Amino acid sequence: MNKLWIGTNWKMTKGIADGLTYTKELKRISEKLSTSIELFIIPSYTALVPIKEEVRHSRIHLGAQNMHWENEGAFTGEISPKMLKEIGIDIVELGHSERRQYYNENDRDINKKVHAGLHYGFTPLVCIGENIEQKNNNISKETLAMQLKVCLKDLTKEQADKVMVAYEPVWAIGEKGTPADPEYVAHIHRFIRQTLVEMFGEAGYKVILLFGGSVSKHNFLDYINSQDVNGLFIGRAAWNTKSFEEILTKL
Ligand code: G3P
Repeated sequence: MNKLWIGTNWKMTKGIADGLTYTKELKRISEKLSTSIELFIIPSYTALVPIKEEVRHSRIHLGAQNMHWENEGAFTGEISPKMLKEIGIDIVELGHSERRQYYNENDRDINKKVHAGLHYGFTPLVCIGENIEQKNNNISKETLAMQLKVCLKDLTKEQADKVMVAYEPVWAIGEKGTPADPEYVAHIHRFIRQTLVEMFGEAGYKVILLFGGSVSKHNFLDYINSQDVNGLFIGRAAWNTKSFEEILTKL
Protein backbone atom coordinates (compact mmCIF):
# COMPACT_ATOMS: atom_id res chain seq x y z
CA MET A 1 0.00 0.00 0.00
CA ASN A 2 1.32 3.43 -0.89
CA LYS A 3 1.49 5.65 2.14
CA LEU A 4 0.52 9.29 2.04
CA TRP A 5 2.41 11.50 4.50
CA ILE A 6 0.40 14.47 5.70
CA GLY A 7 1.78 16.86 8.25
CA THR A 8 1.71 20.33 9.59
CA ASN A 9 4.35 22.76 10.73
CA TRP A 10 2.82 24.93 13.44
CA LYS A 11 5.61 27.52 13.08
CA MET A 12 5.27 30.00 16.00
CA THR A 13 1.51 29.71 16.40
CA LYS A 14 0.63 27.51 19.37
CA GLY A 15 1.75 27.19 22.96
CA ILE A 16 1.14 24.32 25.37
CA ALA A 17 -2.54 24.85 26.17
CA ASP A 18 -3.83 25.40 22.63
CA GLY A 19 -1.35 22.84 21.29
CA LEU A 20 -2.78 20.20 23.61
CA THR A 21 -6.37 21.05 22.71
CA TYR A 22 -5.45 20.75 19.02
CA THR A 23 -3.64 17.46 19.52
CA LYS A 24 -6.50 15.86 21.46
CA GLU A 25 -8.90 16.80 18.68
CA LEU A 26 -6.53 15.57 15.96
CA LYS A 27 -6.20 12.25 17.76
CA ARG A 28 -9.97 11.87 17.62
CA ILE A 29 -9.97 12.70 13.90
CA SER A 30 -7.04 10.36 13.21
CA GLU A 31 -8.99 7.35 14.44
CA LYS A 32 -11.31 7.46 11.46
CA LEU A 33 -8.66 8.02 8.79
CA SER A 34 -7.46 5.49 6.26
CA THR A 35 -4.48 3.48 7.47
CA SER A 36 -2.62 4.59 4.34
CA ILE A 37 -2.24 8.07 5.90
CA GLU A 38 0.82 8.80 8.02
CA LEU A 39 0.07 11.86 10.09
CA PHE A 40 2.60 14.19 11.71
CA ILE A 41 2.63 17.44 13.63
CA ILE A 42 5.56 19.75 14.23
CA PRO A 43 4.83 21.92 17.30
CA SER A 44 6.94 24.63 18.85
CA TYR A 45 9.72 23.50 21.19
CA THR A 46 7.96 24.55 24.37
CA ALA A 47 5.01 22.28 23.61
CA LEU A 48 7.01 19.20 22.58
CA VAL A 49 7.16 17.49 25.98
CA PRO A 50 3.44 17.63 26.88
CA ILE A 51 2.45 16.86 23.30
CA LYS A 52 4.74 13.83 23.25
CA GLU A 53 2.72 12.46 26.18
CA GLU A 54 -0.51 13.19 24.33
CA VAL A 55 0.52 11.40 21.11
CA ARG A 56 2.30 8.50 22.83
CA HIS A 57 -0.35 5.88 22.10
CA SER A 58 -1.68 7.40 18.92
CA ARG A 59 -0.82 7.20 15.22
CA ILE A 60 0.48 10.79 15.16
CA HIS A 61 4.21 11.21 14.57
CA LEU A 62 5.93 14.08 16.34
CA GLY A 63 8.52 16.44 14.88
CA ALA A 64 10.70 19.37 15.92
CA GLN A 65 11.08 22.52 13.83
CA ASN A 66 14.88 22.68 13.90
CA MET A 67 17.93 21.32 15.69
CA HIS A 68 21.64 22.05 16.11
CA TRP A 69 24.10 19.42 14.88
CA GLU A 70 26.28 19.55 18.00
CA ASN A 71 25.27 17.66 21.11
CA GLU A 72 26.30 20.17 23.70
CA GLY A 73 28.35 23.27 24.19
CA ALA A 74 28.20 27.04 24.15
CA PHE A 75 25.36 27.47 21.64
CA THR A 76 22.94 29.84 23.34
CA GLY A 77 19.36 29.34 22.28
CA GLU A 78 19.96 26.07 20.44
CA ILE A 79 18.49 22.59 20.95
CA SER A 80 20.65 19.50 20.46
CA PRO A 81 19.85 16.10 18.93
CA LYS A 82 20.41 14.52 22.35
CA MET A 83 17.80 16.80 23.91
CA LEU A 84 15.28 15.91 21.23
CA LYS A 85 16.10 12.22 21.63
CA GLU A 86 15.26 12.54 25.31
CA ILE A 87 11.80 13.84 24.37
CA GLY A 88 11.36 11.08 21.80
CA ILE A 89 10.59 12.91 18.57
CA ASP A 90 10.30 11.06 15.25
CA ILE A 91 10.97 13.77 12.67
CA VAL A 92 13.24 16.79 12.56
CA GLU A 93 12.36 19.54 10.11
CA LEU A 94 15.45 21.15 8.60
CA GLY A 95 16.03 24.09 6.30
CA HIS A 96 12.57 25.60 6.15
CA SER A 97 12.72 28.73 3.98
CA GLU A 98 11.85 30.93 6.96
CA ARG A 99 14.95 29.64 8.74
CA ARG A 100 17.04 30.18 5.63
CA GLN A 101 15.62 33.67 5.12
CA TYR A 102 15.60 35.05 8.68
CA TYR A 103 18.37 33.05 10.37
CA ASN A 104 20.83 32.58 7.53
CA GLU A 105 20.54 28.81 7.60
CA ASN A 106 22.51 27.40 4.70
CA ASP A 107 22.77 24.08 2.89
CA ARG A 108 26.10 23.15 4.50
CA ASP A 109 24.71 23.55 8.01
CA ILE A 110 21.57 21.68 7.01
CA ASN A 111 23.81 18.84 5.81
CA LYS A 112 25.44 18.62 9.25
CA LYS A 113 21.99 18.56 10.83
CA VAL A 114 20.83 15.79 8.46
CA HIS A 115 23.79 13.62 9.49
CA ALA A 116 23.19 14.34 13.19
CA GLY A 117 19.46 13.63 12.84
CA LEU A 118 20.08 10.28 11.16
CA HIS A 119 22.64 9.36 13.79
CA TYR A 120 19.98 9.85 16.46
CA GLY A 121 17.36 7.88 14.56
CA PHE A 122 15.17 10.81 13.52
CA THR A 123 13.69 11.22 10.07
CA PRO A 124 15.16 14.43 8.66
CA LEU A 125 12.51 16.40 6.78
CA VAL A 126 14.62 18.55 4.49
CA CYS A 127 12.90 21.60 3.02
CA ILE A 128 14.02 22.92 -0.35
CA GLY A 129 12.56 25.51 -2.69
CA GLU A 130 13.42 28.27 -5.10
CA ASN A 131 12.55 31.92 -4.50
CA ILE A 132 10.68 34.10 -6.97
CA GLU A 133 13.83 35.62 -8.54
CA GLN A 134 15.24 32.17 -9.17
CA LYS A 135 11.94 31.05 -10.70
CA ASN A 136 11.71 34.15 -12.91
CA ASN A 137 15.30 33.63 -14.06
CA ASN A 138 14.55 30.02 -14.97
CA ILE A 139 17.04 28.60 -12.51
CA SER A 140 14.56 26.73 -10.30
CA LYS A 141 15.95 23.31 -11.21
CA GLU A 142 19.58 24.33 -10.77
CA THR A 143 18.71 25.83 -7.39
CA LEU A 144 16.89 22.70 -6.23
CA ALA A 145 19.60 20.35 -7.51
CA MET A 146 22.22 22.35 -5.63
CA GLN A 147 20.17 22.33 -2.43
CA LEU A 148 19.70 18.55 -2.68
CA LYS A 149 23.36 17.89 -3.46
CA VAL A 150 24.67 19.93 -0.55
CA CYS A 151 21.96 19.14 2.04
CA LEU A 152 22.24 15.39 1.36
CA LYS A 153 26.00 15.30 0.80
CA ASP A 154 27.84 12.16 1.94
CA LEU A 155 24.73 10.19 2.78
CA THR A 156 24.91 6.50 2.02
CA LYS A 157 22.15 4.88 -0.03
CA GLU A 158 20.89 3.24 3.15
CA GLN A 159 20.65 6.63 4.84
CA ALA A 160 19.11 8.38 1.85
CA ASP A 161 15.89 6.43 1.91
CA LYS A 162 15.33 7.44 5.54
CA VAL A 163 15.11 11.10 4.56
CA MET A 164 11.98 13.03 3.59
CA VAL A 165 12.20 16.01 1.26
CA ALA A 166 9.61 18.79 1.21
CA TYR A 167 9.48 20.92 -1.92
CA GLU A 168 8.21 24.29 -0.78
CA PRO A 169 8.60 27.03 -3.39
CA VAL A 170 9.31 30.15 -1.34
CA TRP A 171 6.89 32.22 -3.44
CA ALA A 172 4.02 29.86 -2.56
CA ILE A 173 4.42 29.93 1.23
CA GLY A 174 2.31 31.91 3.68
CA GLU A 175 -0.31 34.63 3.45
CA LYS A 176 1.50 36.50 0.69
CA GLY A 177 2.21 33.31 -1.23
CA THR A 178 0.73 32.41 -4.60
CA PRO A 179 -0.49 28.80 -4.83
CA ALA A 180 1.63 26.86 -7.31
CA ASP A 181 0.19 25.40 -10.49
CA PRO A 182 -0.28 21.63 -9.89
CA GLU A 183 1.36 20.84 -13.25
CA TYR A 184 4.41 22.85 -12.27
CA VAL A 185 4.55 20.98 -8.96
CA ALA A 186 4.27 17.61 -10.74
CA HIS A 187 7.05 18.63 -13.12
CA ILE A 188 9.36 19.79 -10.34
CA HIS A 189 8.69 16.70 -8.22
CA ARG A 190 9.63 14.54 -11.21
CA PHE A 191 12.86 16.50 -11.47
CA ILE A 192 13.58 16.11 -7.75
CA ARG A 193 12.95 12.36 -8.02
CA GLN A 194 15.33 12.07 -11.01
CA THR A 195 17.99 14.02 -9.14
CA LEU A 196 17.65 11.76 -6.10
CA VAL A 197 17.91 8.67 -8.31
CA GLU A 198 21.05 10.09 -9.94
CA MET A 199 22.50 10.66 -6.48
CA PHE A 200 21.42 7.45 -4.72
CA GLY A 201 20.29 4.95 -7.35
CA GLU A 202 17.27 2.82 -6.40
CA ALA A 203 17.18 4.40 -2.93
CA GLY A 204 16.19 7.67 -4.62
CA TYR A 205 12.80 6.14 -5.46
CA LYS A 206 12.14 5.49 -1.79
CA VAL A 207 12.64 9.06 -0.57
CA ILE A 208 9.30 10.48 0.51
CA LEU A 209 8.60 13.72 -1.35
CA LEU A 210 6.16 16.19 0.16
CA PHE A 211 4.74 19.33 -1.33
CA GLY A 212 4.04 22.45 0.71
CA GLY A 213 3.07 26.07 0.22
CA SER A 214 -0.52 27.42 0.33
CA VAL A 215 -1.98 23.92 0.32
CA SER A 216 -5.69 24.25 1.13
CA LYS A 217 -8.93 22.31 1.05
CA HIS A 218 -9.46 23.74 -2.44
CA ASN A 219 -6.27 22.52 -4.07
CA PHE A 220 -4.81 19.57 -2.09
CA LEU A 221 -6.29 16.90 -4.36
CA ASP A 222 -4.68 18.49 -7.43
CA TYR A 223 -1.26 18.20 -5.83
CA ILE A 224 -1.44 14.65 -4.53
CA ASN A 225 -2.58 13.31 -7.88
CA SER A 226 1.00 13.40 -9.13
CA GLN A 227 3.05 10.24 -9.03
CA ASP A 228 6.03 11.82 -7.30
CA VAL A 229 4.06 13.66 -4.63
CA ASN A 230 3.96 11.32 -1.63
CA GLY A 231 2.33 13.72 0.76
CA LEU A 232 1.70 17.29 1.87
CA PHE A 233 3.33 19.65 4.30
CA ILE A 234 0.72 22.15 5.38
CA GLY A 235 0.80 25.40 7.33
CA ARG A 236 -2.26 27.63 7.71
CA ALA A 237 -4.87 25.20 6.38
CA ALA A 238 -3.97 22.70 9.10
CA TRP A 239 -3.62 25.01 12.09
CA ASN A 240 -7.28 24.62 12.84
CA THR A 241 -8.41 21.02 13.30
CA LYS A 242 -11.72 21.64 11.55
CA SER A 243 -10.12 22.82 8.33
CA PHE A 244 -7.42 20.11 8.62
CA GLU A 245 -10.18 17.54 9.04
CA GLU A 246 -11.79 18.69 5.78
CA ILE A 247 -8.57 17.73 4.01
CA LEU A 248 -7.79 14.54 5.92
CA THR A 249 -11.18 12.96 5.58
CA LYS A 250 -11.18 13.39 1.80
CA LEU A 251 -7.91 11.53 1.28
O1 G3P B 1 6.00 24.22 6.31
C1 G3P B 1 4.77 24.41 5.68
C2 G3P B 1 4.58 25.83 5.30
O2 G3P B 1 5.73 26.51 4.98
C3 G3P B 1 3.49 26.08 4.32
O3 G3P B 1 2.79 27.14 4.86
O4 G3P B 1 0.73 28.37 5.32
O5 G3P B 1 1.66 28.31 3.01
O6 G3P B 1 0.62 26.27 4.00
P1 G3P B 1 1.37 27.55 4.25
